[in-house]
Amino acid sequence: MGIYSKYVLPKLINCTCSVSTVSKQRAKVVPLAKGEVLEIGIGSGLNLPFYQKDQVDTIWGLEPQSELLLMAKEEGAKHDVPIQYIQASAEDIPLDNQQFDTIVITYTLCSIPAARKALEEMKRVLKPNGQVLFCEHGAAPDPAVLKWQNRINPLWKRLGGGCNLNRRIPELFQDAGFHIPDLQTMYIPGWRPACFNYWGKATLK
Ligand SMILES: C[S@@+](CC[C@H](N)C(=O)[O-])C[C@H]1O[C@@H](n2cnc3c(N)ncnc32)[C@H](O)[C@@H]1O
Repeated sequence: MGIYSKYVLPKLINCTCSVSTVSKQRAKVVPLAKGEVLEIGIGSGLNLPFYQKDQVDTIWGLEPQSELLLMAKEEGAKHDVPIQYIQASAEDIPLDNQQFDTIVITYTLCSIPAARKALEEMKRVLKPNGQVLFCEHGAAPDPAVLKWQNRINPLWKRLGGGCNLNRRIPELFQDAGFHIPDLQTMYIPGWRPACFNYWGKATLK
């Protein structure tokens, strides 16, 4: 791992993901988490203040990047809820089948190299009546914006730790067998190629 990925990128991720427009999106999905919760790509722990502690039993925070996991642990120490940390990738979740009532994933499906495999793993660890609460940026509906997303993506991905601007988020869930009854979308304020957001609750059909 290079100096950029180890020392610069975690701070950059924490900084860009802390902006108020993104926090407003977190507030729309994370408080709906209940029971045993798995957060995929917990990053620096920016969702932790948004959990309703009387609704969640344990939060399992999965994160492959050790520097980000350390930041999440520091944030987690400020919150009165049991948290277990796991250094692992979403494509290979080292946890039991049907363990979770809720999976939370925010601004992470864009960065997971094998998104379909990760979604299959989420299906495996989710209880049959469980929910995946998600908020992601992805492919914009406007052809002009999408054109820019496609053009810039190779450079963006290199600088952004594997983040893709142009993933078709609902299709990824649906192709993996999830149903999204309440999909919501909008451009959050900011640079449009990075700001088309999808959020909602995905359930197993
Ligand atoms: C933009 S950050 C978002 C972090 C956090 N979810 C948030 O909302 O602030 C993308 C996250 O995806 C994580 N990530 C990348 N590849 C992953 C993988 N294969 N499995 C799980 N997480 C991954 C990164 O380490 C990083 O924490």
